[in-house]
Amino acid sequence: VVYDLIIHNGRIASASHVSDTSVWIGICGDKITTVQSGPTPIASARQVIDARGGYITPGGVDTHVHLQQLQVAPEDDTGDTFVSGTRSAIAGGTTTIVAFANQQRHDESLLPLVKEYHRRAGSGGTFTDYGFHMILTKPSKKILDEELPHLVQNEGITSIKASRVYMTYEARRVNDRDMLEIMLRTRKLGMTLMVHAENDDMVQLVIDHLRENELTEPAHHALARTPLAEAEATNRAICLSNLVSAPILIVHVSSATSMARIRHAQDELQPIFAETCPQYLLMLANAMSPGHSHGGCGCGGAPPSDPESLPLAPSNFSEGADASTVQGRYEGAKMVCSPPLREDRSDLDAVWKGLANGTVTTFSSDHCPSRYNHPKGKKKGLVGCEADFTKIPNGLPGVETRLPLLMTYGVEAGRISIQRFVQVCCTQPAQLYGLQHRKGEISPGMDADIVVWYPEGEIDEVVTNEKLHHDIDYTPFEGTRVTNWPRYTVLRGKVAYDREGQGVLGVKGEYVHRVKGTMGHEKRTETHLERISRFGEAKRLVGTRS
Ligand code: URP
Ligand code: ZN
Ligand code: ZN
Ligand code: ZN
Repeated sequence: VVYDLIIHNGRIASASHVSDTSVWIGICGDKITTVQSGPTPIASARQVIDARGGYITPGGVDTHVHLQQLQVAPEDDTGDTFVSGTRSAIAGGTTTIVAFANQQRHDESLLPLVKEYHRRAGSGGTFTDYGFHMILTKPSKKILDEELPHLVQNEGITSIKASRVYMTYEARRVNDRDMLEIMLRTRKLGMTLMVHAENDDMVQLVIDHLRENELTEPAHHALARTPLAEAEATNRAICLSNLVSAPILIVHVSSATSMARIRHAQDELQPIFAETCPQYLLMLANAMSPGHSHGGCGCGGAPPSDPESLPLAPSNFSEGADASTVQGRYEGAKMVCSPPLREDRSDLDAVWKGLANGTVTTFSSDHCPSRYNHPKGKKKGLVGCEADFTKIPNGLPGVETRLPLLMTYGVEAGRISIQRFVQVCCTQPAQLYGLQHRKGEISPGMDADIVVWYPEGEIDEVVTNEKLHHDIDYTPFEGTRVTNWPRYTVLRGKVAYDREGQGVLGVKGEYVHRVKGTMGHEKRTETHLERISRFGEAKRLVGTRS
């Protein structure tokens, strides 16, 4: 056999195992064909990568990425395109993304939307493979009963985000009945249902009260969206799911109470899954205020110098940002996302615990960026000297920093194992979202999507925005120390990122036709509705006999 690429001399990490350095990977074309120990047949390889004792992991799968979403006028879109977003992803070790295709209230059909998103992703090309989730805001009968089965069978779209099935963002939220109708269909079709769980009425009440008290600066965003609003919506989503036995995934879990509620449901063998994101592990709400005093954050007064301490308050304010001016404080808008950064260290600790103990199923970026210095980006909430955090576009960039940050503060700092890292960043997101036939694992027959990391101890640097490949003018993790970074990212057998060579290479990503995910659909318990049907059936039978 002649291999197009051989990767050897590293420690191959899977969801369950780490190999020793004698195991090598042989790749032909797009696929991994061989994973074997023993002497590497270097002579029969067209190209060889020497991993020098570093980890070799599957390519990252980031299933929560917002790119070129149809929700704003095109000229208002100051985020990443499919080109810049996937360029950033590949440089951070992510080889597959799933982006959102959102229904707007006036859209009667999802099918033209899917076409439009294909056009958007296809027009400039992508550096990673990609798929789409649908965001539902107005689930008509036609959409539920005709279009969803079509999307699953013909378009390879096997997941939905809803509370758009949001329980939040007034224009996008769906009511409980709609949520239940969606759950019945996703259960039947084997689709994955993502739920954004924040109770919007609870949020809006607090916002009104903050306004009355003239507390409308970016830092107050964290006060508006309480852990209680997240807990209420999480609990409600779990109860709704319970009624119809539908698997759901609670996205971007940020607080202790929600994590505990999810854990409890899992202990009861309910098909409830959880996602979290780097921002909820690494920053607290005080990162939204300049001149952070390192008082209550537990970091000990100085930016931590060893990766076992968490960054908590990165230097994401510009130098000389003046805490005594609205403009200085307004830079906190860079960290405005929903759910917000939490005030209490106990929430952050609970997210770490959930990540380590298996409650968290998947780790995503929720890359949803807006430029800071742009009147239609983050600056939208600043008019003259008046700040209004409710006008700030929500979301952070992070598709490139996701894996290096978890490798640093999770694996190398000893909080999670490398196997756990692979589970939540690669294997489980692939299984949740119907990518398991091609992605998330290093084994023969799978796509050759691979990340080669540096040997531990070789990298010690800080994240700066100049080093990143997105099209955004800041990173929330500016100044944050990292102790590893992908040295090579391989996409379907081709080196797509070479950190010490040419950086990002012009490899073309492809649309991935997803199949049904395998998590949560294993065991179909009878739903309450099915039980009632059974009673009805029995009653009818008795009726025909008499
Ligand atoms: O703040 C965030 N996360 N915005 C993105 C949209 C969402 O809710 O995921
Ligand atoms: Zn969300
Ligand atoms: Zn501090
Ligand atoms: Zn999101």
